[in-house]
Amino acid sequence: MKYPSSTKKSKKTLMSVVTIIILVVVIAVVLFFLNNVSSKEEETQVNENGSNNVGEQGKVVNDRIPSEVTPIDIDKDLDDQPNSQTPVDNKDKDDAKDNNNSEQKENRVEKEDDNGYIVGLSLPLEPTYIDGILITNKKYPLPKSFSPGESVEARVAFEDMATAASEAGFELTAFSTYRSFEYQTTLYSRYVERDGKDNADRYSARPGYSEHQTGLAFDIGEVNREDLWLTSEFGESEAGKWLVENAHEYGFILRYPKGKELITGYMYESWHFRYLGIPVATEVYESGVTLEEYLGIN
Ligand code: DAL
Ligand code: ZN
Repeated sequence: MKYPSSTKKSKKTLMSVVTIIILVVVIAVVLFFLNNVSSKEEETQVNENGSNNVGEQGKVVNDRIPSEVTPIDIDKDLDDQPNSQTPVDNKDKDDAKDNNNSEQKENRVEKEDDNGYIVGLSLPLEPTYIDGILITNKKYPLPKSFSPGESVEARVAFEDMATAASEAGFELTAFSTYRSFEYQTTLYSRYVERDGKDNADRYSARPGYSEHQTGLAFDIGEVNREDLWLTSEFGESEAGKWLVENAHEYGFILRYPKGKELITGYMYESWHFRYLGIPVATEVYESGVTLEEYLGIN
């Protein structure tokens, strides 16, 4: 059948319009597809770069702690106040950030080994102060380089105390005070060799964890009673009892009392006294708690 030429023309026009529409649709679909693929790629890149972990300048902004960075480093990033630069404060801040991220929270749980040390904890770059008090125990180590020497203030206080003890009939001596990181290393290794690690960990601090490295710990005994030095019997002696009852008046506390090993990390040490200054030592003594309990870190 033959169509009139005008019908042929309009059929041709219709075909052209349909072709154009199809082309436009195809181009639109292709453009949409390309756009979609590229934003997916961007998203992937952001995740791989760790956008949730790294801020604009590559600073750690949440709680994922790179292995080479200590908790104190992280805290420093968050808060530059020296006295609040503690893992305790840091933990609180991290917890607040963590509320919606249980997986990361799980990764951050501090695991203790059988002897009370935190697994995988490395020595910090700065010592920890809580409420202005330098704390050193199995959970709060010191920097390896921390070497203040014997505290002059603590030595003066000890001499005052020794004078008072002498008036009461006891001649006291401090037979071990400041110990360097290196010396503690030697000492601890010697004890481990002699008694085994598990036993040594009950009475000797691992290097970096000893209060003696602060220069504020004084091991005290009676002159001419060396047989009682480093023994629990010293605590039963008149001199040992006088010391426990009076040390706070000179700024010292018995640091590792009987029955508190699970809190302090160490067995009873009748000879180990820690200088805190008179006001704090008196408060700790009168409250009848350990330093850990007093600071709320037990
Ligand atoms: N004897 C204490 C725990 C120390 O080694 O520091
Ligand atoms: Zn000691």
